[in-house]
Amino acid sequence: MSQKKTVRDYIRTIPDFPKPGIMFRDVTTLFADPRGFRICIDQLLDPFADQRFDKVAALESRGFIMGGAIAHQLNVGFVPIRKKGKLPGATISEEYLLEYGEATMEVHDNAFTPGERVLLVDDLLATGGTAGAGVKLCERLGARIVGCAFIIDLPDLGGRKRLEEMGLRVESLCSFEGD
Ligand code: PRP
Ligand code: MG
Repeated sequence: MSQKKTVRDYIRTIPDFPKPGIMFRDVTTLFADPRGFRICIDQLLDPFADQRFDKVAALESRGFIMGGAIAHQLNVGFVPIRKKGKLPGATISEEYLLEYGEATMEVHDNAFTPGERVLLVDDLLATGGTAGAGVKLCERLGARIVGCAFIIDLPDLGGRKRLEEMGLRVESLCSFEGD
């Protein structure tokens, strides 16, 4: 009997997107498959089965796809961390470095009450710049990041190390090395 597909098996790799030399890890094929999406959400939560959460925070834009499903499963509220200029209320912001240039993430300044226990989620951890900015935003509002959950880790790019050095628990479902 053939083995069942893993989360990693559902992820499609598209070479040279968005530019030559980049191996793009495409999670749309994972999300489009009903079993793939379900095992992805279930497995993201497995390591945190003994934890209690008050909120899920997710990073725009691909993180939102998982974040909503995870918040629903945990029966907690969802907080979007968005790219600059998208949130309508008063926000706080954090700049972070991209491969070329800078970007800014924002969160509503009343998104958390101090001490709330938060699970931060995104599809992919590369340099950790995006997730690091998200963590800082949550922590500035007094939230406690209990853990960070990603579908994909690209360990060569150092994001896991960077987040762990910030004292964070990092969980991922699969990794791609040597990109
Ligand atoms: C990608 C990915 C992560 C981030 C990881 O998002 O979805 O959010 O990069 O990279 P980092 O660890 O080096 O910060 P992207 O900025 O491409 O935006 P998108 O999710 O809106 O497509
Ligand atoms: Mg993203």
